[in-house]
Amino acid sequence: MARHLITSAIPYINGIKHLGNLVGSQLPADLFARYCRARGHEVLFLCATDEHGTPAELAAAKAGKPVAEYCAEMHGVQARIAEGFRLSFDHFGRSSSPQNHRLTQHFAKRLHEEGLIREVSETQMYSPTDGRFLPDRYIEGTCPNCGFESARGDQCDNCTKQLDPVDLINPRSVISGATDLEMRETKHLYLCQSKMKDELEAWIDSKTDWPILTTSIAKKWLNDGDGLQDRGITRDLDWGIPVRRGDEDWPGMEGKVFYVWFDAPIEYIACAQEWVDAGKGADWQRWWRTDKGADDVRYTQFMGKDNVPFHTLSFPATILGSAEPWKLVDYIKSFNYLNYDGGQFSTSRGRGVFMDQALEILPADYWRWWLLSHAPESSDSEFTWENFQASVNKDLADVLGNFVSRVTKFCRSKFGEAVPEGGAHGPAEEALLAALATRIRAYEGHMEAMEVRKSAAELRAIWVLGNEYLQEAAPWSTFKTDPEQAAMQVRLALNLIRLYAVLSAPFIPDAAASMLAALRTPERGWPGDVATALEALKPGHGFDVPEVLFSKITDEAREDWQVRFAGVRG
Ligand code: 2FM
Ligand code: ZN
Repeated sequence: MARHLITSAIPYINGIKHLGNLVGSQLPADLFARYCRARGHEVLFLCATDEHGTPAELAAAKAGKPVAEYCAEMHGVQARIAEGFRLSFDHFGRSSSPQNHRLTQHFAKRLHEEGLIREVSETQMYSPTDGRFLPDRYIEGTCPNCGFESARGDQCDNCTKQLDPVDLINPRSVISGATDLEMRETKHLYLCQSKMKDELEAWIDSKTDWPILTTSIAKKWLNDGDGLQDRGITRDLDWGIPVRRGDEDWPGMEGKVFYVWFDAPIEYIACAQEWVDAGKGADWQRWWRTDKGADDVRYTQFMGKDNVPFHTLSFPATILGSAEPWKLVDYIKSFNYLNYDGGQFSTSRGRGVFMDQALEILPADYWRWWLLSHAPESSDSEFTWENFQASVNKDLADVLGNFVSRVTKFCRSKFGEAVPEGGAHGPAEEALLAALATRIRAYEGHMEAMEVRKSAAELRAIWVLGNEYLQEAAPWSTFKTDPEQAAMQVRLALNLIRLYAVLSAPFIPDAAASMLAALRTPERGWPGDVATALEALKPGHGFDVPEVLFSKITDEAREDWQVRFAGVRG
């Protein structure tokens, strides 16, 4: 038995995430966590909301709410949706928690003591009317490139040119509309990542088993331009973790907060503390401190490719720089992007399916299956309604659902609602068992390697084996000449349903639970030997014919959804 610490990138608090976000971190992390638990390992699976930064402040302002209230509300919304998707976090924390405040300030103190923080003076736009410095996104004006009047301080949304706030013509404050902006001097803290370049490089070079997507991005950043740059870890914002060294003030840093990307990954650790403080666990240190037992832990992180630099370089720089025995990540599984029907998902244009909408139209398992079996692993992938419909109708309804319904209904009509007795395995059954054993081992191998698509393909192939067997054995014909033989075939098929439920649960937990409930059997752990697993349900064991497991998606529904989710400008 091993111990697995698993974290998913923590989603920003502002708004509900789309299916592309889901498949890039939380969902594959859940698949792996469920698999590890099913294999009998001890798992701590953590996620949280990422609550600081300008996007949170701006979203709260737009909603007309104080930012703390907005975040509390949105955390609740995201937590409910996560439950709806059956994301089995041991704790869903908040980066704004007191635990994260303390820990972030602690890391800043340690980094300072290690001589890894320097103060830098900069000039930045200040708004006397608002009484604060304005981050780039808080400044709007006319684009010097295309004349668009609502260009942001960091970028023009019309011509996409990257901008500096000083480039804007007639700049104004997004908060108040004030135009009396001036450049003022301000001090910020920088983390001296450049001093840690060699250590970080050696660490990354030691990770020879990491996905190429992960290491290639890390190396690009390590060697970009002049090598690893020092980075600013403070901001002039109201909302965030106040800049302090542990519990002491930091002279000159009054009114400033840590940059959201400094405190967000620290929440992975704080979240374990929240988990304990919420009474769900007894000891967080044995997961996070190598001097307290975390040496035995295997730590895996899941994230989209845009998050990789922060997890391969910035967060490890925080951990290593602290010179304290914190656990470093062992494996980073990263994902490409999921596109939507010939374009991108777009939050501002409402283009694509968002997590809440997905659950309004279909149960979680349908989405889980499609998303995982099409996970953007080796390249970006694309959601199309045609593909989604085909995959649900074939894989789930025809292959798995139909098998369950045929077997249980046939048994009820010929033998009644209990596992029938009699008959013995012949060559067809032996061949099936051998094929199953091979495929289950392959499935386990892919799941352990977190090869999500390959795992899904193997699981589907395992379902197909059952269908092929049933087709060939044809108990409905055998029954007429040899009822004992038919009883054996049906008994085997009923046991296959149980086996399928266990194997499929990480992908489609609700359907798996319905299958086990119909068979009136609790889950008894991962199958070892296939022959034994297929004798778990003994003759005489009662069962129920379950409701339809998966309904097919009609052309009409598909067309409706296609229009509904196309976005305002199509
Ligand atoms: O990209 C995102 O959604 C970020 N909120 C991920 C943060 S992950 C980590 F650093 F905590
Ligand atoms: Zn422009």
